[in-house]
Amino acid sequence: MRTQVAIIGAGPAGLMLGRLLDLAGIDNVIIERKSADYVLGRIRAGVLEQGSVDLMERAQVAGRLRAEGLIHHGTDLSFDGDRLRIDFAGLVGKHVTVYGQTEVTRDLMEARQGNTIYEAGNVAIHDFDGNPAVSWEQDGVTHRLDCDYIAGCDGYHGVSRASVPQEALTTFERTYPFGWLGILVDKPPVAHELIYAHHERGFALCSQRSNTRSRYYVQVPTDEKVENWSDDRFWDELRLRLNPETAEALQTGPSIEKSIAPLRSFVAEPLRFGKLFLAGDAAHIVPPTGAKGLNLAMSDVAMLADAMIELYAEKSAAGIDNYSQRALARIWKAERFSWWMTSLLHTFPETGRFGRRIQRAEFDYLSGSHAAQQVLAENYVGLPA
Ligand code: APR
Ligand code: PHB
Repeated sequence: MRTQVAIIGAGPAGLMLGRLLDLAGIDNVIIERKSADYVLGRIRAGVLEQGSVDLMERAQVAGRLRAEGLIHHGTDLSFDGDRLRIDFAGLVGKHVTVYGQTEVTRDLMEARQGNTIYEAGNVAIHDFDGNPAVSWEQDGVTHRLDCDYIAGCDGYHGVSRASVPQEALTTFERTYPFGWLGILVDKPPVAHELIYAHHERGFALCSQRSNTRSRYYVQVPTDEKVENWSDDRFWDELRLRLNPETAEALQTGPSIEKSIAPLRSFVAEPLRFGKLFLAGDAAHIVPPTGAKGLNLAMSDVAMLADAMIELYAEKSAAGIDNYSQRALARIWKAERFSWWMTSLLHTFPETGRFGRRIQRAEFDYLSGSHAAQQVLAENYVGLPA
């Protein structure tokens, strides 16, 4: 088998890249370790920057997003019960769209025309400095796909980054001593907009997927087990962290999904190794505070697709030569913002009373400063590519 671009991973990054290449007439094959159903079963974030919405439009997969996506003109912060609305529209003239990553993935899967190989075992990358190829196993048979380029879109635990020699890679990492316990519930959201809440018991987030489905999170220690959290315990803890009116208005119900995600900041540099490119979670992780993960994956693959189109259509390598530097410039800004928002809103056991007062001062500063709110809004709605 031969193709122009072998894409590893059928998450949003791999599927969007495949779609953009398909539309440009560039032959590609996606190789995914899991089944399509498994990929669609993962519950992830759901806030799209306008750049991601525009990319869905460009990919001609925005029909359902246009109909079902919820436009949010602002978001709420709450600090020990005090509220502050960040008015994106008034501050920077922009908005975000609430639409689940699962739905983005589904829309891209349904539109896919190229070949996707699901349930590929033992995926391996070969000779990315010379004649690149990808191999995998299925039904006891080893398959091989020769290609011009490999796009590593296989997430944080994928094989792409792991195949690069250690000495060629520089990594930057910060782990946080907590995770988010999330719950999905078929009840209307507690508020029209998201609420990011700081409380001395820990961070909480009220989010949503639609007008009838809500997503809530509470900060928990890293070693916490989801089995220890009955739905009742979750709702009780969430209420304690919200201001009283919000806690009162909360509509609870049986969870349809409950899981704990660790928080991490991570960047690998560079994003190109010969004919292998990294994009999305394969290259970087942001903590979810600020909802940048999916949006960064989208901007990476938009840049990578454009670079490949330039290469095949115009025979210019300028785009692929610049990809790493260009994408990393945007990635680091999103890393900074996600780290900052995480630092403002979570409780950090190690920083003690001083740390909490600094957080309070930061919140008070935000509350009183149009300029500070503008900085938050400009980053939240998404910096230019
Ligand atoms: N071989 C083939 N596929 C693999 C391998 C492998 N060795 N390892 C992982 N994969 C697949 C995973 O099963 C997954 O479907 O690669 C895909 C990677 O998808 P994501 O983890 O969703 O990453 P990405 O497409 O970069 O999307 C980033 O996902 O994690 C969120 O916050 C993140 O929203 C952001 C988005
Ligand atoms: C979510 O809805 O899952 C969500 C929203 C905003 C975030 C993180 C997660 O910052």
